Amino acid sequence: MIEIVPSILSADFAHLADEIARVERGGARILHLDVMDGHFVPNLTIGPPVVESVRKTTRLHLDVHLMIESPERYAAAFVHAGANSVSVHYEACRHLDATLGLIRAEGAMAGIVLNPATPVAVLEDVLEVADYVLLMSVNPGFGGQKLIPYVLEKARKLDRLRREKKLALPIEIDGGVHLENLGEVVRAGCDWIVTGSAIFHSSDPEATVREMQEIAAQATAVKV
Ligand code: DX5
Ligand code: ZN
Repeated sequence: MIEIVPSILSADFAHLADEIARVERGGARILHLDVMDGHFVPNLTIGPPVVESVRKTTRLHLDVHLMIESPERYAAAFVHAGANSVSVHYEACRHLDATLGLIRAEGAMAGIVLNPATPVAVLEDVLEVADYVLLMSVNPGFGGQKLIPYVLEKARKLDRLRREKKLALPIEIDGGVHLENLGEVVRAGCDWIVTGSAIFHSSDPEATVREMQEIAAQATAVKV
């Protein structure tokens, strides 16, 4: 099942509850929350208190993407704040296996994120202890960037790898996905499609989520 996953990074933070209600009405079931620390990426965003407030306004699955150094220090706090899944960057983890274990022990799904330049091959052994993999299709830090085309080849490779290993874990993609390239992204094997500006900067976020779900469903129907 393909999920259109709105990223609140491009939402109006002064009216977050309304923005979330809009995408929820459009049929979104997962909401993406970007956490940035100004070190791992050159931008700052939100911490556990905001996740906690969001948790009170919605029953959607909250997918927290940690773009921070030493994520093992903060992962539990985000689960306690209400995250259903927490992903950590391969590039930020000295002890990735342990950090994934920590997230799972706290009761959330544990995801591994790869920056565009990090090859899928690094997942070969660790894949079986991850609940999902997030492929960055832009360099992390900002919304509204252009999708880096070679990441779609990484998605196809990862799709092959999970089939070989008989693992059903979702492939998530994040950055630069919009109405025009969504079909291609789905056909490359991605399941959780994060999209920020294409939804929240559109005139009708609710309708855009619905339209994206239709495009994704059509693309799955012709997937070979
Ligand atoms: C970028 C973030 C993304 C961002 C995507 O570092 O991880 O989740 O919100 O935004 P768009 O869809 O505008 O590229
Ligand atoms: Zn993200």
